[in-house]
Parts: sequence; C-alpha cells; structure tokens
Amino acid sequence: MKVKQFRYSQDNLGYLVYGSKTAIAIDPGAVSEIISFAKEKKVKIKYVTNTHSHHDHTSGNDLMLEKTHAQFLDCKAIRNKRSLKLDDEDLLVFHTPGHTRDSLTFKADNILITGDTLFNGTIGNCFSEDLLGFFNSLKFLCSFSKETIIYGGHDYVKDSMVYAKLIDKQNPETDRYLEKYNPDHIISTLEDELKVNPYIRFNDKAMVKVLNKKNLPGNTEYERFKSVYELY
Ligand SMILES: [Fe+2]
Repeated sequence: MKVKQFRYSQDNLGYLVYGSKTAIAIDPGAVSEIISFAKEKKVKIKYVTNTHSHHDHTSGNDLMLEKTHAQFLDCKAIRNKRSLKLDDEDLLVFHTPGHTRDSLTFKADNILITGDTLFNGTIGNCFSEDLLGFFNSLKFLCSFSKETIIYGGHDYVKDSMVYAKLIDKQNPETDRYLEKYNPDHIISTLEDELKVNPYIRFNDKAMVKVLNKKNLPGNTEYERFKSVYELY
C-alpha cells in the first residue's frame, strides 16, 4: 500500500491510500488532484472517508462521490470495520478520540494518517472535552515503532515550532526539525515527534525539567501532558 498526500485550502492535508488496483480517499478536499493522480496510477477510488467529521475535512466528500461513484464510509461505519481491504492488503482503522469524539487514525504499513489528533509538531485542540481520552489516544499512537511515518491533517509545522521553542528554549531538535520542512510534503517520523512535539514529550527528561522549573504538576504522564496542554 502506498500513500500520497494532497494539500488543499490554506493548510489542510488529505490522502489517497492505494494498492495496485484500488484506493481510498481520506479527507478528499483536493478532489481534482486526487482524481488525476488516481488516473495516472491506474487505480480506482473505491471508498471515501474522513479522519473526523469537521467540515474542513469532509468538504470534498460530495464532489468526490459524484465524480467517482465511490462508496462513502462515515467515521462510525469505518471504525466498526476496524480494517479495510485494499487489494488484499489491510488498511487498519483505530478510534483515537480526543480532538473530536469520532476521530480516527488510519495505518497503512508503517504510515499513520492521524487527522487532527497528532500533527507534525503539535496536536489538535481537545474539542471533545475528554482530555484524558485524548491523552490515551496520543499514548497509543506513541506506542508504534519510532520509524513510523506521521501524516497529519494540517500543516502547522512553522507555528508549532515557534510554540515548541517557547516552552523549551534549550531544545536543539526544533531547528533541525524546521530545516527539514517542505511545504509540498509534510512528513515526520514518530521519532522526530518525540524529540520536538511538546505534547508527546511527557516522558522526556528535558520536558520534565521544564515543568519542574515552572512549578507545574508533573508526577504522572497524564499530569505532565495536562500541564503542557494548559500552558498557553
Ligand atoms: Fe478538526
């Protein structure tokens, strides 16, 4: 299975996951680009779905369905399936609530499509009001191998590194991370994220130090996560 990223609107990122014959469009805002790419690769767009039900992620659904006659799978339907076959390969679907109650993460080989749960450099807002649930979702995503590729739902790389530097001025990794920034392809590994993304550095000694200095609660992983989440 392969994954192609498509940028649309200001900073939204959508994806086409494809095998040798069929494909699934996830958050398909870049409708015409996705269709052209699928034609070029000679794959049929069989399904359309979303990482969660926010409008900026679902805005391309109707046009994509009209132009391709693909089957629409809403977040709940696809979550219940847990995986989807694409040319005999499995695209895994995980429920990762927190940003919204219906947030999903997709796994194609070693690639995670994380929507607004985990971005490259930051995380989404906790609109579900279930911060502990959000933390558990992030912990689950952090349990994959360090080489796992993270494909998020927006490009917030530059702003997120400004913020990361505000929290931890001493971290030399933020500049290294920014040097790799390419607006045409927003990508990082879980290892990169664990070095720079302040919200998932809850077990990083440097982050524990930062919180101690600020006299913020930090005895448990969740306390540290919450302290960083509530910082600004
Ligand atoms: Fe969202």
